[in-house]
Amino acid sequence: MAKRTVIFGLLGSRLDGAAHDRRWDQWRPTVSLFQHDDLEPARLVLLSQTQEGRLAEIVAADVRSVSPNTAVEHVPVRFKDPWDFAEVFRVLDDVARAYPFDRDNEDYLVHITTGTHVAQICLFLLVETRRIPARLVQSSPRSTRGSQGNYSIIDLDLSRYDALAARFAAEHREGVDFLKAGIATQNAAFNRLMERIEHVAGRSTDPILLAGPTGVGKTQLARRIFELKRRLHAVEGSFVEVNCATLRGDHAMATLFGHERGAFTGATARRDGLLRAADGGLLFLDEIGELGLDEQAMLLRAIEEGVFLPLGADKPAKSRFQLIAGTNRDLAADVRAGRFREDLLARIDLWSFALPPLAERREDIEPNVEHELARHFAQTGRRVTFAAEARARFLTFAASPAAVWRANFRDLGAALTRLATLAPGGRITAPLVEEEIERLRAGWARLEQPRVDSPSAATDARGEPLDRFDAVQLADVLRVCRESRSLSEAGRTLFAVSRTKKASSNDADRLRKYLARFGLDYESARASDS
Ligand SMILES: Nc1ncnc2c1ncn2[C@@H]1O[C@H](COP(=O)(O)OP(=O)(O)OP(=O)(O)O)[C@@H](O)[C@H]1O
Ligand SMILES: [Mg+2]
Repeated sequence: MAKRTVIFGLLGSRLDGAAHDRRWDQWRPTVSLFQHDDLEPARLVLLSQTQEGRLAEIVAADVRSVSPNTAVEHVPVRFKDPWDFAEVFRVLDDVARAYPFDRDNEDYLVHITTGTHVAQICLFLLVETRRIPARLVQSSPRSTRGSQGNYSIIDLDLSRYDALAARFAAEHREGVDFLKAGIATQNAAFNRLMERIEHVAGRSTDPILLAGPTGVGKTQLARRIFELKRRLHAVEGSFVEVNCATLRGDHAMATLFGHERGAFTGATARRDGLLRAADGGLLFLDEIGELGLDEQAMLLRAIEEGVFLPLGADKPAKSRFQLIAGTNRDLAADVRAGRFREDLLARIDLWSFALPPLAERREDIEPNVEHELARHFAQTGRRVTFAAEARARFLTFAASPAAVWRANFRDLGAALTRLATLAPGGRITAPLVEEEIERLRAGWARLEQPRVDSPSAATDARGEPLDRFDAVQLADVLRVCRESRSLSEAGRTLFAVSRTKKASSNDADRLRKYLARFGLDYESARASDS
């Protein structure tokens, strides 16, 4: 048995409400739907506002007169403001939720020609999300026959969306490809990471943290995220970039947050600062772990509230920007050591992506080699290729544990630049590859940390032998000095516990005295080998 057709529609207070005596000469969307021979609705579910009761009665009577087999069911709705999206959606969604749909026996159509635009959009959304299991029906006055008009049924069945879905998928693939600089990477973890970043780049303006050792491509990725956002119309302002390791003291505050004229000696003019330059755009703070604690506090406020205080200003300045932070330090360890604010880490950790080192993506070395050679060609106009044997040798070495790729893409890029530049006649030969492998090995070996197997053999700065007890302690103190930006900072880290107990009054002094016992001061401690 064919299913019964049921039409849902809002009473159109304007279009359905023609002057009484001339109403049959005019197109009235709701009534006209029931004047078509090929559409035989068993029921009209007429949604109308309480104050429109009289018009609802007239329309219902006229529907029954042109289509005697149609029953009319009145459903009252109440919009305080028919242009308020949230309210209209809620009211219509309540109607949908309460309605006893019987899909086995009934076929539903939702008429979207009547009601405010807001109501029409809400009905569309309810059908599209299947909260109302229906197709849409749209009517229009264009017709050769009087008041009857025309109608068309729009099926939002998701299979009809295949073409659209395919478009979205293609766009997503393009975005991911763009982030990967068109390199056909194979590493599953890396590819998943790029897919995730593509999603986030298009949808979020929250901070992004890019972590990973030096040379894994954090800076390059930050620039590409910005470019991608520009293509997706997700950002309007500019890309502003600074390496926090280059910012020190007053200069750090002024560079980031700007300053008034005369804010400090030499401040002859007022300056906006990088945060304001990034307004509406993207601020990339590389090596964010190098930022001082005061700058961190100001930055947090700027991210959360969009305001900050330029140096020497008495009124806060405003800027809204997306932050991408880069780090090759373990920021959680910095928080534990009191060098990084926990609240700032929590805020920038919202989207945090750890880029894997090249040694963990050995299957990606080959596509990256191709990419580097293509880049060399683009830059120099000189096409360089590997001799077959040379290529196999290089790739085998590159993927072996002997290749540590300490500086990641910087090492790989440098190796290929040397090979391409030296290649006789544009051909990279086997001997050239052997020479390069030796060079890479030697370079990495120089940077390997010498192992102290027996700390008891250690000596102090004056060459005096040390007890194992002192050597172990001194080694850690030196490490903290190297990782700190000042004597006071190192002191704070080393005496963090006694500080909270107020047991020691001057950490810096205590550290200075400790170092002096071994013939060291802070500067020489910082410069010490590990
Ligand atoms: N496939 C690649 N992905 C990323 N970077 C690459 C790639 N190929 C070459 N490079 C180059 O490697 C170098 C290092 O990249 P980048 O500066 O983005 O690393 P980083 O992680 O920001 O390093 P650092 O922590 O030292 O700032 C750049 O010169 C970059 O152009
Ligand atoms: Mg970088």
